[in-house]
Amino acid sequence: MPSVGRREFLKLSVALGASLAWGCTPVRPSSSGWRERRDLYPQGVASGDPDDSSVLLWTRRPYADGRDNATLHVEVADDPAFTRVVAKTTARVQAGSDWTCRVLVGHLQSAREYWYRFVDEEGNGSRIGRTLTAPAPDDPRPSRFAFVSCQDICEGYLNAYRRMIYEDERATPEERIGFVLHLGDFIYEVVQYPDQVKDGHRYDRRITFPVKFPKGKIVAKNRFWAPDSLDDYRALYHAYLQDPELQDARARWPFVAMWDNHEFSWQGWQSIQEFPGTEGWVPAQTLKVAANQAWFEYQPARVLPPGSTLDVFTAPHVVDTLVKEFDDDGLGTEPNNRAAIDSLIAYRALRWGRHIDLLITDQHSFRSRDPGSHDEINPLFADDTLGFVPEELWAQLDAGRDYADGHPPATLSFGDKSVANYRAGEAPQTVLGAKQKAWFLERLRGAKATWKIWGNSLGTPDWRVDPQHLPPALGTWSGAGYGLMATGDWGSTYRERAEIFDAVRDAGITGFAIVAGDRHSFWAGYAAKALPPAAFEPVGVTFVGGSLCSPGMVEANEHNLKADNPLRPLYVANPGGGPPQATVNLLMHHGVRSALEFASSGDLQKARALRNPDLAPHLSFVDMGGHGYATVRVDARTMVTEFVCIPRPIERSTRADGGPLRYRVRHEVALWRAGEKPQMRQVVVEGDAGLSV
Ligand SMILES: [Fe+2]
Repeated sequence: MPSVGRREFLKLSVALGASLAWGCTPVRPSSSGWRERRDLYPQGVASGDPDDSSVLLWTRRPYADGRDNATLHVEVADDPAFTRVVAKTTARVQAGSDWTCRVLVGHLQSAREYWYRFVDEEGNGSRIGRTLTAPAPDDPRPSRFAFVSCQDICEGYLNAYRRMIYEDERATPEERIGFVLHLGDFIYEVVQYPDQVKDGHRYDRRITFPVKFPKGKIVAKNRFWAPDSLDDYRALYHAYLQDPELQDARARWPFVAMWDNHEFSWQGWQSIQEFPGTEGWVPAQTLKVAANQAWFEYQPARVLPPGSTLDVFTAPHVVDTLVKEFDDDGLGTEPNNRAAIDSLIAYRALRWGRHIDLLITDQHSFRSRDPGSHDEINPLFADDTLGFVPEELWAQLDAGRDYADGHPPATLSFGDKSVANYRAGEAPQTVLGAKQKAWFLERLRGAKATWKIWGNSLGTPDWRVDPQHLPPALGTWSGAGYGLMATGDWGSTYRERAEIFDAVRDAGITGFAIVAGDRHSFWAGYAAKALPPAAFEPVGVTFVGGSLCSPGMVEANEHNLKADNPLRPLYVANPGGGPPQATVNLLMHHGVRSALEFASSGDLQKARALRNPDLAPHLSFVDMGGHGYATVRVDARTMVTEFVCIPRPIERSTRADGGPLRYRVRHEVALWRAGEKPQMRQVVVEGDAGLSV
């Protein structure tokens, strides 16, 4: 039994805004009179952020009879029939927290399975949830978790959760998933109403309309509705948590959640919103606080909202004010901006047995402005048809005044065009911000578990392409050297990424692994700050999980690149008239020559023979069209990351297993010693991974 005392737990539960339940002996059968009434708990139950003696529980029990609060009883048992109740307490739900509540259950045993449920004063009960506690820090047994992201329920179905549940129920106890790491886009705040969707479809998707904002605002030239109040953000969670697959997943495993962009705002950063169109910067301090409050109310996470009291998020008073000044770390100094982003600090760490130290960071609340989103750069690309950004140009944008040891160029150039270097006086780009980065590096250096896993909503591998090898018929690349297919995440945050990877190298940290989401695609490879012709020196391994259901680049390419577009073969091709295949996977992994060879001959071997070995030594797998989930299994020697890829989830599967698989691929990494390079081995266990390997 863990040694943390009841008094400390009580303090912790108050700080977390949770009621406390205390594991007790003797165990007794339930006496709550529970009768299941799922309709009265429409968002189900959930648990989150377990440690080796405690876990947070969650539910929502709304009332519409005029009262403003009610009391629920909570029972925790070590059997699903509740004949052995090990902890119970009461918890208050209130209108002020949208009728949600969180309960911290302490004094539990490590590495154990528990069941929990809520009962109101009339005996109306929630569904039963299952949760798990973490193994003790010295527990040497292997551990396993899943990581997921990007679940737009207006555009697809969460069949991947159904598959995950099905497999987990059939796994041996020691192979079961311990927790689900949700890396964000749990909700999508931009939604469309019927009049905004042409023909009711986008790509292969039939758009549905489960979200209706009580208030809402129209953004991006009437392309979307977005939340404009706390109740609007809450409405998103109401709708999402009524999805049966998501609700079943939350009732089966503890979740460890971190937001990505859409929990606040699509192109938002700090407390600022930006939308494509004419809105410019939209000061949105009140909406950042509202987004944080709704997240706090709906995610049972060990996060500390300053000044909170039991169950209720204490929202700071903020006023929407344009942020004009930034400090040396890119952080807006405007006081309402500071108050809004500090209203909930979500970065945190979790220990899971001997083998996992999980560090989870926030990529949006503290980040500096994306240096590519300035309009000043547009003239450089006025005549460009390829859509790639030269690496060197991006390095100048990323580093700002620190480029070339403090000697940034006066102009930014692409081909024969140039503009004044608007970044020459500005600080280097940061995703984490100074304070969070200091926390992260300190925790990383102090991590003692075999595997130091960075749960990070944004992917780190470079999106590199080699347009210098394009045949002239397809266009002339005006850049010198390599290009980038996309920017905006860690793949192009060169300086800060290098700072982190250098810290890993300098501290002799082994077992460093990154798991990420956001890209709506599966990637596996190596964490390296630079690529050839610079020295390629990986310090760890890096993975990106496919979206649970949100559309990815391949689907967009299939629809947006018309058959007569000369660039189409780089992205999608159907050699011999077969179904479309994602040549973009070859483009990213092996280069333009490989992609074009496959597009014309359909011969993968011939295509691979033309690969550019210097393009992407950091990649060992890329599927720009994959959906599904990923699992990680670690022990003292090995990390095995499995990608479970499903077909495009455009209809809800009615099968118990969630439908068929496209493929299952395993990436095995043996623990390396300090100074050694990690080595990854791949096994396609099931199905056909197509052009991804
Ligand atoms: Fe997403």
